[in-house]
Amino acid sequence: MPAAGLTKAAVELAPGVHWVGALDPHLRNFDIILKTANGTSYNAYVVRGEHGVAVIDTVKESFADTFFERLESVARYDEITTIVLNHLEPDHSGALPELLKRAPQAKVYLSSRAQMMLKALLKPSGEKPPEYIPVTTDDTVNLGGRTLRFLHTPYLHWPDTQCTYLVEDGLLFTGDIFGCHFCDARLFNDTVGDFRFSFEYYYAHIMRPFREYVLDAIALIEPLDINLIAPAHGPILRHQPRDYVHRYRELATPRLFNEAKSEKTLVVFYISAYGNTRRMAEALAAGAESMGGVRVSLYDLEGGESGIFTDLIEEADGLAFGSPTINADAVKPIWDVLSSLTTVNVKGKLGAAFGSYGWSGEAVRLIEDRLRGLKLRVPLEGLRIKLVPDDRELSQCRELGEQLACHLTGRAAPREIEFSQLQATPA
Ligand SMILES: Cc1cc2nc3c(=O)[nH]c(=O)nc-3n(C[C@H](O)[C@H](O)[C@H](O)COP(=O)(O)O)c2cc1C
Ligand SMILES: [Fe+2]
Ligand SMILES: [Fe+2]
Repeated sequence: MPAAGLTKAAVELAPGVHWVGALDPHLRNFDIILKTANGTSYNAYVVRGEHGVAVIDTVKESFADTFFERLESVARYDEITTIVLNHLEPDHSGALPELLKRAPQAKVYLSSRAQMMLKALLKPSGEKPPEYIPVTTDDTVNLGGRTLRFLHTPYLHWPDTQCTYLVEDGLLFTGDIFGCHFCDARLFNDTVGDFRFSFEYYYAHIMRPFREYVLDAIALIEPLDINLIAPAHGPILRHQPRDYVHRYRELATPRLFNEAKSEKTLVVFYISAYGNTRRMAEALAAGAESMGGVRVSLYDLEGGESGIFTDLIEEADGLAFGSPTINADAVKPIWDVLSSLTTVNVKGKLGAAFGSYGWSGEAVRLIEDRLRGLKLRVPLEGLRIKLVPDDRELSQCRELGEQLACHLTGRAAPREIEFSQLQATPA
């Protein structure tokens, strides 16, 4: 439904609680990484108490006029005692410098991690930073008959994020979490169009890299009595808001359930023009498998789509990448996978590289550098084999697999005794 369907007035969520956000129906790309097929919205809210008015978040700078128009329809600037910043990304803080000018008496409440960001954000305006108060879980602001309670929920989606709970009404203002880029002037989840895709797409691209933090936040949110979730983008969730919390729990919960909890997973990805790197991959996988306690999967990148591999990578404890060297580099499908990992957290996973080469063999080192750049652990030197691996070289691949398995299970590596190097003990 086009934005024109909405008047410039604020929209009531509950008596004295209003949406004062802005619709951006023509946006087609957000933060470079997301497509926005029907635009987005920047949701901001106003809460009126008996002795104060709170503004929760603002909008992108270019939509400030609409925001102020809606805000003025429900409150005077001199009534604003409180500004809550759930998230300082410019899509929510764009109108903040102007709001601070219009309501200079207001106190600003934000997370402790947001303090330095706020200063950096206000730099260009030359304004003195406002009086701000860092808050964390269970800190409150009393607006008179209405209480705002904060929840410390970092990394949803920057380190500064928090949620704000309006205790008496059971309204939860969540910032980016539970939001989505879906612009619909009907505003509420039971009246807008079908936004399921946008909701999950948003999780996959914005929240997924921080899924441990999502689970921490959900643990704080689940015990609350919630009548409505008011996110910073997309539909306001007033119909069965808990369903969205449950869905987030599902999305953020690891999906590969091993029968034995102690079992680790190693995924071996490879690509191979003449079968040399493939034979290395097979030997490595067999070596890892032979150690027990590690479930090994072998994938030829030639036969897959990157989205599916991203899922596999998110669940795996260890990742090995095999590429031949072609024109002094690893091959594109490897880089495609490695560049698609910005949406998952791979920090601390075990990584390894291997590959066949003809003369210069750069691929393995380049992959290792990238794995380290992504903060994987790469304790074992990658394996390069010149052209066709012979039996001795294949057993080196096997051994690399065995050692990877040991790193995953925490068991000691098998001691390989090279008999040719054994010296006769002097009598
Ligand atoms: C087009 C092409 C370019 C290559 N460039 C390099 C190179 O720059 N450096 C190198 O060490 N090997 C290079 N090679 C050799 C391959 O790495 C070598 O043939 C390797 O064994 C292929 O492994 P695969 O069977 O797993 O594909 C090149 C091969 C081809 C076909
Ligand atoms: Fe954000
Ligand atoms: Fe946002």
